[in-house]
Amino acid sequence: MNAGPLQSNTYVLQAQNLRLQYGDAAPLIDGLNLTVAAGEIVAILGPSGVGKSSLLRILAGLQKASDGKVLVDGEPIDGTHPRVAMAFQDPSLLPWLTLEKNVAFGLDFRHQPDITKAEKNQRVTAAIREVGLEHARHRMPAELSGGMAQRTALARCIARQPEVILLDEPFGALDEVTRAAMQRLLLKLREDLGTAAVLITHDIDEALQVADRIVLLGGAPAHAIGEWKIAYTQPRDDLVEELGQLRIEILRTLHRALHPQSEKSKNNAVSANNVIPQNMIESKELADVS
Ligand SMILES: Nc1ncnc2c1ncn2[C@@H]1O[C@H](COP(=O)(O)OP(=O)(O)OP(=O)(O)O)[C@@H](O)[C@H]1O
Ligand SMILES: [Mg+2]
Repeated sequence: MNAGPLQSNTYVLQAQNLRLQYGDAAPLIDGLNLTVAAGEIVAILGPSGVGKSSLLRILAGLQKASDGKVLVDGEPIDGTHPRVAMAFQDPSLLPWLTLEKNVAFGLDFRHQPDITKAEKNQRVTAAIREVGLEHARHRMPAELSGGMAQRTALARCIARQPEVILLDEPFGALDEVTRAAMQRLLLKLREDLGTAAVLITHDIDEALQVADRIVLLGGAPAHAIGEWKIAYTQPRDDLVEELGQLRIEILRTLHRALHPQSEKSKNNAVSANNVIPQNMIESKELADVS
């Protein structure tokens, strides 16, 4: 998707024709293509179990696809890559290390380039400052709130100076106010560091708030069934009507993917809260979803 005029080496991350099959089960993912440009935030939405986390692990080089390629800066990867960092819904901090040591931990992996102790300290300090946790750098994980723990996980990612951060529902367990603060932090990281991100989320509003592009996964096997470029500048808090239209369009595409039969009737509802109006705007599926 998003073939566009860009050359392949202008993408920090590309997935080409990915296929994934677990054992003898039917293929989970097939024919999946994805591109992420430098500094771009791409949100991935899709029903539970469609294969979003599996896809992210493949993009991170933590899991092998059955077929297809993942390229970082135009080069195919075989395993994890130092410029690609990943954060999960659970911040996965090591409970016996301070916040500061947890951030430094991300620099100790086998695939990280060798850096001097001074440079390591400098990167850790800069990353902790970037996420606003200087005051807590000597605290243990048990002394951090959920939001602080997730900030620490982000700091651990950015200490690696990644070109792209892969986020698997990173803010899902946080309360609404903290989640909004984390979304602003993600935008700040992009602003300050130029970091691209792939954000998996169940929350369409979160995707609409932060993403430059939304990709909807669906079908069996899964592939991209819709893609929306969100051209609005930040902040988007006041764009209730514009984003509301897109929200309906995305939900409608999702609904069509989940219920291709009932879509034949034009009077269906997406959910109790999202009744599709009769004069529905044209949706922009990239592929046939039936
Ligand atoms: N290691 C594995 N071995 C076998 N099957 C797996 C493995 N990992 C995931 N699956 C299966 O693949 C399917 C997709 O899982 P995945 O976690 O990628 O979905 P998801 O889209 O992230 O779901 P959710 O939104 O609930 O997090 C599920 O049916 C799951 O049971
Ligand atoms: Mg998942």
